[in-house]
Amino acid sequence: MSDQPRRPRKPAKPYRRPQKDPVRILAFEALRAVDERDAYANLVLPPLLRKARENDDFDARDAALATELVYGTLRRQGTYDAVVAACVDRPLREVDPPVLDVLNLGAHQLLGTRIPTHAAVSATVELARVVLGDGRAKFVNAVLRKIAQDDLDGWLERVAPAYDEDPEDHLAVVHSHPRWVVSALWDSLGGGRTGIEELLKADNDRPEVTLVARPGRATTTELLDEEAAVPGRWSPYAVRLTEGGEPGAITAVAEGRAGVQDEGSQLVALALANAPVEGPDRMWLDGCAGPGGKAALLGALAAERGAVLLASEKQPHRAGLVAKALAGNPGPYQVVAADGTRPPWRPGSFDRVLVDVPCTGLGALRRRPEARWRRRPEDLDGFAPLQRGLLRTALESVRAGGVVGYATCSPHLAETRAVVGDLLKQFPDAELIDARPLLPGVPDLGEGPDVQLWPHVHGTDAMYLALIRRTG
Ligand SMILES: C[S@@+](CC[C@H](N)C(=O)[O-])C[C@H]1O[C@@H](n2cnc3c(N)ncnc32)[C@H](O)[C@@H]1O
Repeated sequence: MSDQPRRPRKPAKPYRRPQKDPVRILAFEALRAVDERDAYANLVLPPLLRKARENDDFDARDAALATELVYGTLRRQGTYDAVVAACVDRPLREVDPPVLDVLNLGAHQLLGTRIPTHAAVSATVELARVVLGDGRAKFVNAVLRKIAQDDLDGWLERVAPAYDEDPEDHLAVVHSHPRWVVSALWDSLGGGRTGIEELLKADNDRPEVTLVARPGRATTTELLDEEAAVPGRWSPYAVRLTEGGEPGAITAVAEGRAGVQDEGSQLVALALANAPVEGPDRMWLDGCAGPGGKAALLGALAAERGAVLLASEKQPHRAGLVAKALAGNPGPYQVVAADGTRPPWRPGSFDRVLVDVPCTGLGALRRRPEARWRRRPEDLDGFAPLQRGLLRTALESVRAGGVVGYATCSPHLAETRAVVGDLLKQFPDAELIDARPLLPGVPDLGEGPDVQLWPHVHGTDAMYLALIRRTG
């Protein structure tokens, strides 16, 4: 044993309990639910916020911050993953998912918000102490301090490949989209760098809340009385709430006379309703109606013309939502739960048919922040036969001289023109009609005859619409 006198030990720091920050704990819980249970952020967040709001010290500003932290972290996950990967000494797949969620949450505060650096780091480390324990909180602290050494632009220069070397990978990292999604959007959009960059940026913006005043049931004038409400850009029935808010608290919305509906979705229903048909115009069909946004608008428009709407939806619980959306419709309608590929109605029964088919949803990435990471290119193969089957029965369901609207909330060419092109080959008596004049005043609709809306051009979801008339 050494006879050296022992150096006096530093007195141990007294243990300090981690500080519980309800906003960040809630944001972490939401991110875990999205990751672990494949939950949708827009479904998981509201009940968490409601529960927190029951607590007196969780106010509207806390709710707004929690929402921003969850949505922002999920949207920018691709960028933050690349930054975090540059700051840890192991592949990201070896970092525990809860730790990665905390790191991304911290990265978002540091690189994507105006939260001061020291507050972002210390609040995230405290969160890590609460949800991960003190040991892993030290790791989080070390990584966040590295991230805090640069701003977002600085990090992007370091972690994104140069545009000239690999344009798609560059855009994927800078604008936080999977590479295959960048590639698919670019194929559909065409053009050079500016357009695709604007589109990818728009996908990362929070969309405005848009309302529809269902004709005959509510007026835009009534909705324009709401705070920060302005008229829609394109649809005569649309009102935009520029500061968001709680649409459910608006009387007309609570009573079902108005609803929340993107303008792109309104335009699809309007274009189909206004497409010229030859002969009678009495029977309308929405063949994929759930949850009922377009059906409610079509139902109100049909009522004005003395037409009847049949709204059909395969999933019984979604058919229930359609029934709720249509309740109080001023004209006759019926809701059925039916498989649109094996319909119970006779061929040729309808004058107008809408099929707003299930799709990848790549046109609504603004609303579903996690969707881009969950979707896989293989999903397209799963949707392809269903989309063709639904369009086939839609074309069989319409009478000669009637019109079918084929719509998707995805601009992916495999879900839009490829489906329509295939079906037109099978129905020699079906022809595309120019949809552009049926969206009056809407600019930049391309060369037609089908139309593709874009978030960065029209401020809508990227809805696609082809109008097809049976001539035989
Ligand atoms: C894109 S959503 C329709 C959105 C709806 N048009 C609206 O505006 O609210 C597609 C719907 O088609 C339904 N669906 C899926 N397969 C179907 C089938 N074989 N027949 C009928 N509906 C189907 C889905 O359950 C989903 O509700």
